[in-house]
Amino acid sequence: MKKILLGKKSKYAIDENQKVFHSKEGVIKIQKNRKIVKSHLGDEFSIVEPSLTDFFEKILKRGPQVILPKDSAMILAYTGVGKNAKIVDAGAGSAFLSIFLAWYLQPCKIIAYEINDRFYKLAKENVKKIGLEKYIKIKKADIRKGIDEKNLDLVTLDLEGSEKVVKHAYESLKIGGWLVVYCPYIESVLKTIKEIEKYDFGEIKIVENIVREWRSVKSFTRPKTTGIMHTGFLIFARKIK
Ligand SMILES: C[S@@+](CC[C@H](N)C(=O)[O-])C[C@H]1O[C@@H](n2cnc3c(N)ncnc32)[C@H](O)[C@@H]1O
Repeated sequence: MKKILLGKKSKYAIDENQKVFHSKEGVIKIQKNRKIVKSHLGDEFSIVEPSLTDFFEKILKRGPQVILPKDSAMILAYTGVGKNAKIVDAGAGSAFLSIFLAWYLQPCKIIAYEINDRFYKLAKENVKKIGLEKYIKIKKADIRKGIDEKNLDLVTLDLEGSEKVVKHAYESLKIGGWLVVYCPYIESVLKTIKEIEKYDFGEIKIVENIVREWRSVKSFTRPKTTGIMHTGFLIFARKIK
């Protein structure tokens, strides 16, 4: 199990029984039962349980490009899926999206398809590290060959050639269920929309979520000049019959 050392300037993940940690702020001795510890240079750190963001930033491993929380949050906000949802997610990749969804929707059932051996293992490891194995099953399979599960509340696609999976998603969704496709490029958005329009989907939306951070230095406050700008487009489509 991991804990987080939370300081004013930095945060670090440590093992539960770790006794010493070498940080940028100096050496930190971690005494048992202490909630606040100090580095030898005088910086204080609180010891806390990891939050979901701490898991993403400090504990879980990244393989292929992940879906960031700002985009995963849009999936919850725009579909309105709730607890007990039955979801298929593909490809699993680092399982960041599956983990985000399970964290907020548990108890739920998420089946994440992954074709690549290395990412299949990575996704499984990440799910185990955060303790969500009960709600997320990583399945070694090619989703282009079909979706075994039926009556789904949500299908999320983040893979090359997502447009080839739209038909399978339509057949596996329940009426009123949602298909969400994450596309880094507008070319894949256009291909996917063309495919979506062949089926009985409504409430079709294409959304880009641009988050702008601001910074305040002395008495001057303005948007940051660098940061994450474009991540991907999200396509939402709801099965209407
Ligand atoms: C960009 S990553 C997904 C990242 C994931 N959404 C996350 O947030 O961690 C795309 C993944 O899709 C997998 N993939 C590609 N084609 C696939 C297919 N036909 N069936 C299942 N997985 C596939 C790739 O191996 C890769 O791991």
